Amino acid sequence: MSEKIIILDFGSQYTQLIARRVRELNVYCEIHPFNNLPEFDNSVKGVIFSGSPYSVRQEDAPQIDFKSIQEKFPLLGVCYGAQYIAQNSNGEVLPSEIREYGRANLQFVDQENDLLKGIPTQSQVWMSHGDTIKEVPANFKIIASTDKVRVAAYQVEGTNTYGIQFHPEVTHSTDGQVLLKNFVINICGCTQDWTADAFVDTTVSELKEQLGNDHVIMALSGGVDSTVAAVLLHHAIGDKLHCFFVDHGLLRKDEYEQVLASYQNMGLNIKGVNAKDLFYSRLAGVSEPEQKRKIIGASFIDVFDEAAKEIQKELPEGVEAKWLGQGTIYPDIIESISVKGPSATIKSHHNVGGLPDYMKLKVIEPLKTLFKDEVRRVGKSLEVDPAILGRHPFPGPGLAIRILGDITEEKVRILQEADDIYIRNLKESGWYDKVWQAGTIFLPVQSVGVMGDERTYEHVVALRAVGSLDGMTADWIHLPYDLLAKISNEIINHVKGINRVVYDISSKPPATIEWE
Ligand code: XMP
Repeated sequence: MSEKIIILDFGSQYTQLIARRVRELNVYCEIHPFNNLPEFDNSVKGVIFSGSPYSVRQEDAPQIDFKSIQEKFPLLGVCYGAQYIAQNSNGEVLPSEIREYGRANLQFVDQENDLLKGIPTQSQVWMSHGDTIKEVPANFKIIASTDKVRVAAYQVEGTNTYGIQFHPEVTHSTDGQVLLKNFVINICGCTQDWTADAFVDTTVSELKEQLGNDHVIMALSGGVDSTVAAVLLHHAIGDKLHCFFVDHGLLRKDEYEQVLASYQNMGLNIKGVNAKDLFYSRLAGVSEPEQKRKIIGASFIDVFDEAAKEIQKELPEGVEAKWLGQGTIYPDIIESISVKGPSATIKSHHNVGGLPDYMKLKVIEPLKTLFKDEVRRVGKSLEVDPAILGRHPFPGPGLAIRILGDITEEKVRILQEADDIYIRNLKESGWYDKVWQAGTIFLPVQSVGVMGDERTYEHVVALRAVGSLDGMTADWIHLPYDLLAKISNEIINHVKGINRVVYDISSKPPATIEWE
């Protein structure tokens, strides 16, 4: 990496957002926890301290030797970061007299200051803090204030150290991106050369060097991440990347055939593995959601093991595949290195595809520095099929967790048909791309209906559509009534076995996106 910004995380909920905003400026950056510092080599152009749930006045507040960083690099402290620098430079930080949370306006802005150029007075900023910087030492120049917060921003005179009390990374700070740009480009001197094309070039040559003549095995899911990772690896090592795509019988209607064909069109060295019967037989009679996930995870490993052995057998004498390719992306990594330590919230079932130790393959993860939207941009630069790049997230266990209760082939078929009508209508009406994730859920109840003169007693499906950024929180989407009516009619008229359709109007939290 020719240049980068280091973001030191003190535990703020917004740290990832700072990184995303810096990346939007085409500047590479990395998040590291304050208590596990990275190497500060020549590529580091500047450092940002994040906010924190701690108060600098707490005894166990995060501590850092910031002076050695301040001497070498431009430094921007955000919220806790700003308070920490002020407090440890003989300033004074006290609890705020009034709660400083939400929107505020900058009454005073020093527009001559490098950090604040282009930011007008009255600019709206987002505050979220319980402490306030009461006093700053003589060499701190106050460069912005609100009516309630005198030290909304400061510069340590004669240095490139700055502190800001508000959060520029949150979109409610209307000129936040201008401020970050001033810091990253004008003050740190970054050249904005971090683009999808540049990423592809460097990554492909790094992969070539790292892998040499080695062979890599990779299971693809049909999703964006694994596909883009595979295409990058394929650019680097060609057919020495051996991919396979498993049909566990719980994919969407015709998805297996379509995705496999799409992979073949991309020129990937790919095999389809039909393992439907294995999954159905192991899942028979199982209703408990975690149990289903465990069975699917374990069966997937068995299928992988078998497929990997086949691939090894086909390799020339003495050649062995040593690597396992994976589509891990940056948020997965940040989660496990965060200040709070590996998060207890990662569900074991989100790692379907994890491998037993005995397989001893080294892991290669070409996308592990990218956010999801960047993966899409890299995919576009690699000319990956837009149909794959634009796909909604789909859970590893697939329809198994959208059929509440036990799974039978018949229920899978009914759900696939209904879901196909739903998704097709979303696409035709232009709603598919406005929705983060949509799916159909097969409910374990039957309800009474009438068709012609006959009374029916059939199944119910629920439609779900949510808007979200990362799946952590989600809002239900207000689909037009006309569209819902059309979908409901089509499903009830065409899918035998369903006589009622309902729409899920719950947001996350407290509901989850999936029903199981
Ligand atoms: P929830 O239901 O927890 O889902 O709100 C959040 C996101 O995670 C997906 N999800 C899964 N993905 N294996 C996966 O690979 C799973 O077992 C699983 N469960 C939920 C869900 O589709 C949503 O995108």
